[in-house]
Amino acid sequence: MRTVFAFLLLTAAAWSAPWESPASAEICGRCHRSIHEAWKVSTHAAATENRLFQDALEMAEADFGAQARRICLTCHAPVAVQTGDLGLSRKVSWEGVTCDFCHSVRHVSVDGPNPKADVVFSLIKTGPLKGVTPVGHQAEFSDVHTSSTICAPCHEYRNTLGLQVLTTWSEWKNSRYAKEGKECQSCHMSRVAGNVVDPRIKRTTQAKVNLHSMPGSHSLDQLTSVLRANLSTARDGDKLKVVIDLVNQGAGHSFPTGSPLRHLVLEVRADTYDGRHFKQERVYARKVADQHGTVIQREHFAFVKGAKVVSDTRLSAGERRTETFEFPVPAGNQVQVKATFWYYYSPLARTESQKRITFLTINRLVK
Ligand code: HEC
Ligand code: HEC
Ligand code: HEC
Ligand code: HEC
Ligand code: HEC
Repeated sequence: MRTVFAFLLLTAAAWSAPWESPASAEICGRCHRSIHEAWKVSTHAAATENRLFQDALEMAEADFGAQARRICLTCHAPVAVQTGDLGLSRKVSWEGVTCDFCHSVRHVSVDGPNPKADVVFSLIKTGPLKGVTPVGHQAEFSDVHTSSTICAPCHEYRNTLGLQVLTTWSEWKNSRYAKEGKECQSCHMSRVAGNVVDPRIKRTTQAKVNLHSMPGSHSLDQLTSVLRANLSTARDGDKLKVVIDLVNQGAGHSFPTGSPLRHLVLEVRADTYDGRHFKQERVYARKVADQHGTVIQREHFAFVKGAKVVSDTRLSAGERRTETFEFPVPAGNQVQVKATFWYYYSPLARTESQKRITFLTINRLVK
């Protein structure tokens, strides 16, 4: 009995052992277990150590020097920049978009050229809950955390040449979702079953937490929820007409959003039963170029050298579009028509690191 009691005291001491801010997510995870587990698998948690990012960072430093490193780390290793640890010597600096960054944000101003977070590292944690009594730290209610504003400092970016490199936040701001009060959190941090705090630390009535895994384009569920597409066919003289109606019904911003190197591709194939094959494609993307008009193919160039938008064929939030394709297939030929949508991203312009995810196909046999 006595040993059990001593053990309990010991573990309680470990839970509430003093710590300093910014603290590693491991420390927050001692008490906020379920939130920690979800965050761990997010791309936010891997934003610094992610191999693609590390490769791109190396290229940025090689091409543009130390100044570029600071630009990249501002969003990918925000604690490192706030604490001046640009060499990434501390563990917490490697934790990417970590707990103690977001929950030390006191205010976000959106008036300047770029949205900017005002961060104070202390034992006061800002968050969406009112009147809570934490253990080992204090809390302050923050309405920034229940709105899209908390996401703006990293999901909206204008570079020194004036190019809007990332516009996810303003795309949302101009959409009907903003007017309806549907914040980023409603699609990316849904309320799920879970304990805000490990019940061994404190019993609370809260049986729900905001999902911190932040599913985006890495989630097939999210990708498949974006588009509604309808395929119809018609004969027009010697031609077969394929019409695709599509709607961006699920994203609260353009699809694709974020980096200009993200593409949505629609491919339509028509294969006749007598062995002829046709293929056409539409690409939905925002093409950007440097000051000389050279189209940019790599992530670090977009951030540092991007100067103008050449074209933007993405589907804005809620947008409906009709695409018509014509194939030289006269009536009397049986045709297998296949429409395929995929998401494509190649941030380093290297084939080994490109990503291609097919998330929707529609087949139709036309007699
Ligand atoms: C020793 C346990 C413990 C540790 C360690 C801990 N917390 Fe907490 N935290 C709590 C408790 C208890 C609450 C209150 C929950 C309640 O009453 O519903 C809380 C509440 C919170 C809240 C809600 C505040 C609000 O007003 O919305 C946030 C945010 C938070 N913690 C963030 C953190 C972060 C970030 C860390 C790590 C840097 C951390 N916590 C470490 C126990 C802990
Ligand atoms: C990208 C910023 C971000 C990161 C990183 C982040 N949080 Fe949160 N957290 C939020 C936001 C935003 C909310 C409130 C969402 C809402 O109410 O709409 C929240 C809510 C909370 C709450 C209140 C309970 C709840 O689920 O609403 C706690 C506690 C908390 N976070 C702890 C943590 C811990 C621990 C970590 C790291 C393991 C972490 N957060 C990482 C942004 C973040
Ligand atoms: C401190 C900067 C920062 C903040 C604040 C931030 N993010 Fe992010 N976010 C990032 C970075 C950096 C990445 C890319 C990580 C990677 O893949 O390396 C990212 C990636 C994402 C992704 C992509 C996930 C995927 O599957 O590819 C989503 C969705 C996302 N963030 C949503 C949010 C939302 C919603 C908020 C506000 C609640 C938010 N972020 C706040 C920096 C931030
Ligand atoms: C109505 C739901 C909805 C809202 C609101 C919403 N998103 Fe999304 N978001 C999605 C869906 C669905 C996807 C997956 C498809 C895609 O990549 O666009 C996504 C993807 C993303 C991605 C991943 C982009 C990529 O290609 O990796 C980021 C980053 C992101 N959202 C950030 C945000 C931010 C920041 C906000 C608020 C300013 C926000 N989202 C508001 C539904 C939403
Ligand atoms: C203003 C914030 C911000 C800055 C500055 C920034 N990034 Fe990012 N980065 C993001 C966000 C947000 C994403 C995720 C989705 C998107 O919006 O495209 C991302 C995604 C990436 C990815 C893809 C990671 C993956 O796994 O999919 C790479 C590579 C990358 N960034 C490299 C860089 C480099 C190199 C720099 C510096 C030249 C840089 N970033 C500067 C916010 C930023």
